Amino acid sequence: MGKPYPPIGYSAYLKTEELLSLQNKRSDEFGSPAHDEMLFIITHQTYELWFKQILTELDSVLSVFDQPKIDEVDMAKAVSRLQRITEIQKLLVQQVSVLETMTSLDFLDFRDFLYPASGFQSMQNRMIENKLGLRSETRLTYNSAPYHSYVTQTEQEKLIASEKQASLFDLVDRWLARTPFLRTAEFDFWQVYQNTIAQIFEEDRQTVRNHPVLKADEKERNLKEIEATNETFRALFDESKYEELRQAGQFRLSYPALHASLLIQLYRDQPVFNLPFQLLTALQDIDELMTTWRYRHSLMAHRMIGRKIGTGGSSGAQYLKNATDKHRIFSDLFNLATFLIPRSRLPALPAKVREKLGFYYSAGA
Ligand code: HEM
Repeated sequence: MGKPYPPIGYSAYLKTEELLSLQNKRSDEFGSPAHDEMLFIITHQTYELWFKQILTELDSVLSVFDQPKIDEVDMAKAVSRLQRITEIQKLLVQQVSVLETMTSLDFLDFRDFLYPASGFQSMQNRMIENKLGLRSETRLTYNSAPYHSYVTQTEQEKLIASEKQASLFDLVDRWLARTPFLRTAEFDFWQVYQNTIAQIFEEDRQTVRNHPVLKADEKERNLKEIEATNETFRALFDESKYEELRQAGQFRLSYPALHASLLIQLYRDQPVFNLPFQLLTALQDIDELMTTWRYRHSLMAHRMIGRKIGTGGSSGAQYLKNATDKHRIFSDLFNLATFLIPRSRLPALPAKVREKLGFYYSAGA
């Protein structure tokens, strides 16, 4: 018996004819053919295709996190989709080298035909940023205009709508804030962690005070440094101080979400925290790869156009370089490393808690 649907060939399925008819060089159209314009168009189009795939994955991950309770199976799916995004991002970073085989002189053969088009108007790229959680108030602006004033009216409406939706950052924050096991009858993680930190700082002070080689002024300087680090930790133990720093932009995660992230990082070896740990790692990878892409792209722009302004009207490579640092989304997860303590100093979990954190079969064994 045949299949209940008609057969289809490769080109009909992939619509290759339509796809391959979409690379139209403006340099040909205006009678000054430039060989490298084809590479320029194809590179941008493949980026846009991969952006579409990233958005597909992101939307599915957002729908998983946009639930009051996340099923373990869905969580595993979300993590693997985020990991897929990171693999795509690696390709996107690599693709820069392909375009860099075009020299700045080659680019000048057709650059004028592009004006005022710019990657700045890539709607899908902005969507990715918004859905991940880049906030419009933290974006760099130029010409005092919002980033979405450079796209079409329809795209602008979509972007503004996406700003109003909960981003992955928001949803992960909410999910982290709900993390159980932070305080149970047997185990108050926060108290235990705070005591351990106090102990570590006291040992550090003793080491400096009793140091056989350091001179008095060096000891004083070291002790001051210890107190400065201790001050950073104090913000972690004092919610109102933390909120102050958060308002000042030093942290973005909510207080309970930060605590939960720390717990997950510290006890990542416990089976129940393994998947959440993979999730936090994937978010860090996405942030790092986005930053890497921004930096590579800014270098490429620098070698292509030097100090000229961009076709979109920005300061060019300098704007792109500044955005590299300014447009980070998950930096809090990186900053958490400040508060990690060695495994050897990690407070042992009470047996009952360990049992709760284990897989069911091992807990029952
Ligand atoms: C010859 C190669 C390229 C040059 C010289 C270049 C240059 C620039 C410049 C100067 C900007 C800043 C906005 C402006 O004033 O126009 C920009 C923004 C941008 N470009 Fe490119 N670009 C190149 C290739 C690409 C490619 C292949 C992509 C892939 C999609 C891309 C995506 C973007 C994006 C997404 C932005 C916005 C970045 C942001 O605002 O954070 N560019 N580009």
